[in-house]
Amino acid sequence: MTGKSAVVTVDDKTVELPVRSGSIGPDVVDIGTLYKQTGQFTYDPGFTSTASCESKITYIDGDQGILLHRGYPIEQLAEHGDFLEVCYLLLYGELPTKAQKVDFDYRVTHHTMVHEQMSRFFTGFRRDAHPMAVMCGCVGALSAFYHDSTDITDPHQRMVASLRMIAKMPTLAAMAYKYHIGQPFVYPKNDLDYASNFLRMCFAVPCEEYTVNPVLARAMDRIFILHADHEQNASTSTVRLAGSSGANPFACIAAGIACLWGPAHGGANEAALNMLAEIGSVDRIPEFIARAKDKNDPFRLMGFGHRVYKNYDPRAKIMQKTTHEVLAELGHKDDPLLDVAMELERIALTDSYFIEKKLYPNIDFYSGITLKALGFPTTMFTVLFALARTVGWIAQWNEMIEDPEQRIGRPRQLYIGEPERDYVPVSKR
Ligand code: SDX
Repeated sequence: MTGKSAVVTVDDKTVELPVRSGSIGPDVVDIGTLYKQTGQFTYDPGFTSTASCESKITYIDGDQGILLHRGYPIEQLAEHGDFLEVCYLLLYGELPTKAQKVDFDYRVTHHTMVHEQMSRFFTGFRRDAHPMAVMCGCVGALSAFYHDSTDITDPHQRMVASLRMIAKMPTLAAMAYKYHIGQPFVYPKNDLDYASNFLRMCFAVPCEEYTVNPVLARAMDRIFILHADHEQNASTSTVRLAGSSGANPFACIAAGIACLWGPAHGGANEAALNMLAEIGSVDRIPEFIARAKDKNDPFRLMGFGHRVYKNYDPRAKIMQKTTHEVLAELGHKDDPLLDVAMELERIALTDSYFIEKKLYPNIDFYSGITLKALGFPTTMFTVLFALARTVGWIAQWNEMIEDPEQRIGRPRQLYIGEPERDYVPVSKR
């Protein structure tokens, strides 16, 4: 507590509400007793001014374009670390020592296989099912296989479930892709690192040896780092709310996957690439900029804007650099979609509408171009986002379970419907 308080006067009642400070960032007004003291609720449907929890995991400063994981800037983690090191940091709060990293990598690597009967789930889907629909189903089904790690009151079981989720998501994502394109599943190999294993499970075929390109594997690993966690975004809040009822971690992650699928959230990377393809060429950009500004047109520039970032998304800068590295490695220097993206960004950043509304490229703007160059279809883009975000979801879920203030999340409402009225028999309607 800060000793400071906020005074709220409602009708003839004046109440003092305590103000709490974090280590950095805005203070919060604790409104937990407001209803009891005044009989009134607060109203904030998009949660634009609402903190849902205390957290030590990720800090975002939207005005400065800052993103910290356990205090470490995303730029430094993306430059110097690898994804499993970031997973360890998000889960345990500190960067691992060499011995801790070796042990963690070993534990994750040796949980990458899924129960063989999981493969039968896939055969129940049509081949043209969206891979995100498949992931919602299969991840939710994991709880049917791992009863020994669903007791959320047991810290050991929580950590086993956490490691299983981080380890098995690449395997399930690769299986969803292989099923989608009609190719046989490829098993994980324990002598490969996390990103290399995933690329091999996606792109190897039984007919020939597959050699992972280290430049592409490093790019994939960095893309996972950039998507790992992001404070209390919509899908993370979904995981926390599902977990607050005591639901098992596999079911909570499946709920997060479902929420991430939306085009306003994780689905934006797929939508952004489809938008760039629809624009098609640089000379059609003004037409789409005009549509984005037209209040009567529902069209939005996908990959632009953010609830928190009112400056450049720091992840987008790193993503753009990764895009150039991947295209150079693959010899696609002149990808027309990249030309459209770069020119669209240039125009938008000088347009008064976007400047006034503080709309900058977000992480989804460049990721689609990179993932397409790596060989993934657009339908797999959000699956890759979900794969990487699983560690963030599971770290936030663990923090919520361990929070002594944690209770089931149960918002109230402003009722605007009919006051009480009597039933009317159908003969009189
Ligand atoms: C992610 O929360 C997270 O942290 C999410 C994420 C994560 O890592 O978890 O960062 C991942 O979801 C990134 C965002 C991906 N989504 C998109 O790129 C979809 C396009 N962007 C928008 O739909 C929008 O910007 C949101 C959803 C991202 C943010 O929506 P807000 O905060 O509710 O903002 P808003 O819709 O109220 O927009 C404010 C104004 C509006 O105009 P006015 O009503 O004030 O006149 O800006 C306009 C909007 O019309 N606007 C856009 C726009 N985004 C907002 N106009 C054109 N193009 C856009 N992209």
